[in-house]
Amino acid sequence: PRVIFSGIQPTGIPHLGNYLGAIRNWVKLQNTAAPGDTVIYCIVGYHAITLPQDPVHLETERLNMLASLLACGINPKLSLLYNQDQVPEHTELAWILNCITPVGWLSRMTTWKSKLAVARNAGSEDEIDESMLNLGLFAYPVLQAADIMIHKSTHVPVGDDQTQHLELAQDIARAFNHKYGDDLFPMPQQLSTSAKRVLSLRDPAQKMSKSAPSDKSRILITDDPAAITAKIRGAVTDSITEITYDPEGRPGVGNLISVLAACTSEEPTLDLDAIGRSYQGRRIQDLKQDVADAVIAKIDPIRKEYERIRAEPSWLRDVSEAGTVLARERASRTMLEVKRTVGLARM
Ligand code: TYM
Repeated sequence: PRVIFSGIQPTGIPHLGNYLGAIRNWVKLQNTAAPGDTVIYCIVGYHAITLPQDPVHLETERLNMLASLLACGINPKLSLLYNQDQVPEHTELAWILNCITPVGWLSRMTTWKSKLAVARNAGSEDEIDESMLNLGLFAYPVLQAADIMIHKSTHVPVGDDQTQHLELAQDIARAFNHKYGDDLFPMPQQLSTSAKRVLSLRDPAQKMSKSAPSDKSRILITDDPAAITAKIRGAVTDSITEITYDPEGRPGVGNLISVLAACTSEEPTLDLDAIGRSYQGRRIQDLKQDVADAVIAKIDPIRKEYERIRAEPSWLRDVSEAGTVLARERASRTMLEVKRTVGLARM
């Protein structure tokens, strides 16, 4: 049986990249799980605080994220849904993994290297300066490995930007098994969608992200149809009038085709060339209109559901608390095995 696990940071309403690259697949995996499979999704507050967060705002974002995941179709009767920060076994395992993870492995993480580069060149207006490069941010991928391993997860549905973190989690699981001569942890495997990397609508050299300065660079699952249409009409493409699918040479157009395909089909692989060819002789505005219509058809029911669910904070807290109890039960079983293996079980 599979143990499917993934996580998301409570640092803003999910955008189209989060949805098409990950959350939509979470829902599909939940709804197609075989008897005996376990499906677990987690809101990772301890990852969020590796960068500065306002405490009052963070509490709200954690509720917003829970409401978002439920609105997207995560069903707490089918999936174990909870907040990582309510289950201390995550950080407990992370400490033990810290002690078998070479610093060199973490120095090679592109997420760390790019933040380091920004901080070292920071001017006064930059968001990150060197004082923000804390130990938690450096160890972030080890906590992610602990999230995965505390449930002995076998499959992890994430977007492309998490591939290196997942490979590190595999290396850490292997290192633990090897050091202690025990096959305690399975090798977690990445699961991807056809839209594993949705690009920024303002700068197609970048992925769509929660932290990019421009609101117009991303579509949120709570955007209304007018906002979605405006953002897609304004999407940066290039000056070639003909429509072709060339993701390397023409990333802006390629991104629109990929989003269109992902919103109209759930297949993990799609013939994007063929979709590009079907637009031969038509204008970019036609493609943008079709993309906007397809995104609205996907997102608008989610926005409405979000508004309904978000108005019931006490129910949201009940869902999270029920998840916490079950997650702790599972996590503490693993922790006991780990402590026995490491030699930290008895007084
Ligand atoms: P986070 O919160 O940045 O993103 C959540 C999920 O959305 C995917 N994603 C994208 N997919 C396609 N295109 C994009 N532009 C795009 N942007 C984001 C991410 O790949 C992710 O699947 N470190 C993780 C959270 C995490 C986690 C874990 C994930 C913590 N522990 C354990 C899996 C397993 C993160 O920051 O995701």
